Amino acid sequence: MPNFVLFGAPGAGKGTLAGKIKQFSPVVHVSTGDLFRANIKNQTPIGKEAKNYIDNGQLVPDSVVIGMVKDRIAQDDVKEHGFMLDGFPRTLEQAKSLDEIAQLDVVVVLDIKKEDLKKRILGRWSCPDCGKIYNIYNEELTPKTEGKCDDCKVDLTHRSDDNEETFQKRWDTYISQSAAVIDYYGQKEGLVEKIDATKTMAFTEADLRKILKL
Ligand code: AP5
Ligand code: MG
Repeated sequence: MPNFVLFGAPGAGKGTLAGKIKQFSPVVHVSTGDLFRANIKNQTPIGKEAKNYIDNGQLVPDSVVIGMVKDRIAQDDVKEHGFMLDGFPRTLEQAKSLDEIAQLDVVVVLDIKKEDLKKRILGRWSCPDCGKIYNIYNEELTPKTEGKCDDCKVDLTHRSDDNEETFQKRWDTYISQSAAVIDYYGQKEGLVEKIDATKTMAFTEADLRKILKL
């Protein structure tokens, strides 16, 4: 299984695609956003430090993120099955640090325009138990029972940063930081693969499986 990165704007579909891949592959999903949200829920020192940045649509400082990812990918499950990184790296510093500790096989860039993202962000609901992601504005992605997880049957939750104002800030942050990361990986021949993230879930998933040869 390749070690790979899912790279894309807020709401591009990184977490949703990772969820699909997990259904048929043991590769370990490492989402820095999910790790922060778990730390916030458990009121850890990392969570306390990250919360304000996240709610303001800013990046958590590199020193915190890089340490957290290094710890996670040093664990046995990642050694055995490889990783799919979701939301990391997001800065040049993070990309360079990753190169020091791991070999990357593919960087998958989810290509989507800003105007397609707002509905995705505002319509997103997630399961607090299993993490499954839904969207109330998309027929393919609505829960079978309104407001409940299809699998766990618990009430779905809405992220504190999924509002119009914070989305705008997250978008601005993405635009100001992402070009450097894409340029960095673009210099490594054959590493970057782009997919059209505006397509339906089934098509996007098929594109990703082709790239990963799964
Ligand atoms: P993070 O949790 O990574 O948020 P993000 O990058 O803003 O991305 P999202 O999780 O919002 O979107 P996604 O691409 O996963 O989309 P999803 O699949 O859910 O980070 C949150 C915060 O943590 C950051 O702002 C920052 O503060 C901090 N942080 C995290 N990593 C960091 C780092 N490395 N450095 C510093 N700080 C960091 O899909 C979105 C919606 O669209 C869903 O409702 C879904 O159902 C729907 N959808 C998905 N695919 C499709 C499709 N093909 N068609 C229609 N709808 C779709
Ligand atoms: Mg996500």
